[in-house]
Amino acid sequence: MARPFIRPAPAFAPAPSPRQTETAVRVHNFTRRFGEVTVLEGLDLELKRGEFVALLGRSGSGKTTLLRTLAGLDPTEGQDVRTPASRAVVFQDARLLPWKKVWRNVALGLSGPNVRGRAEAALREVELDHRADAWPATLSGGEAQRASLARALVREPGLLLLDEPFAAVDALTRLRMHELVLSLWRRHAPTVLMVTHDVDEAITLADRVLVLENGRIIAEEAIALARPRAVDGEFQAIRSRLLARLGVRGSAPPATEGALLAFPSGEIVA
Ligand SMILES: Nc1ncnc2c1ncn2[C@@H]1O[C@H](COP(=O)(O)OP(=O)(O)OP(=O)(O)O)[C@@H](O)[C@H]1O
Ligand SMILES: [Mg+2]
Repeated sequence: MARPFIRPAPAFAPAPSPRQTETAVRVHNFTRRFGEVTVLEGLDLELKRGEFVALLGRSGSGKTTLLRTLAGLDPTEGQDVRTPASRAVVFQDARLLPWKKVWRNVALGLSGPNVRGRAEAALREVELDHRADAWPATLSGGEAQRASLARALVREPGLLLLDEPFAAVDALTRLRMHELVLSLWRRHAPTVLMVTHDVDEAITLADRVLVLENGRIIAEEAIALARPRAVDGEFQAIRSRLLARLGVRGSAPPATEGALLAFPSGEIVA
């Protein structure tokens, strides 16, 4: 039987902390082109230290491009992009190396003393230490994502970038992952930028939700609701405003496992 991996989340919203007044990420007037195609243009972004921000936008709007830029994976020459030095990314697919055991995947690139001990400690945080010596191919989708989270956490990143990290797991695992990510965020206090297509997931988790469109941030919603968040009137009002900014026709479905987005193009995104 699968081991539970949720620690109960405190039933209160964290008090605004002084660290949230410091700027962790600043991007000013950023442009990214691929050949003739301009994906990001004149983009401004500021994230406070320790803030949890969600990024919404239709498919192809440039969310992954922005994350890759902030992760230092794409060129930024001559442009104003400031981030913490230590950054880690979790992608939709866990991207574990199949020929390395789980703990070695987590320890990848780590140096210094007691590498195995540190990898195991990170695996313990995501309640996966019992699979330290397993091969990645034997992990479930949710376990692989937790290993990927452990690999990010072991670096104690100042900036944690999540690119649709729960899109490939089932609905129940996704809800458990929400609790896990929130508890890790509270404990380690990185600045988080999480891309998602799921409006309810964004409102449930984030301090602030941004919408990317036409190369820049076109809307933002500060979420002042206490955590854990109930789908109350205010939640639904925020959802409606965000769906409108995403160009979604019709009313939003009730939030159970996340709203489906139907874009004017006819594209359906879960
Ligand atoms: N290396 C690349 N070369 C050429 N075009 C690219 C490259 N990477 C991204 N693009 C293009 O840039 C645009 C934005 O891509 P990006 O992956 O950032 O979108 P996204 O918002 O993450 O979409 P999705 O929600 O589908 O993941 C797309 O049109 C994509 O085809
Ligand atoms: Mg993407």
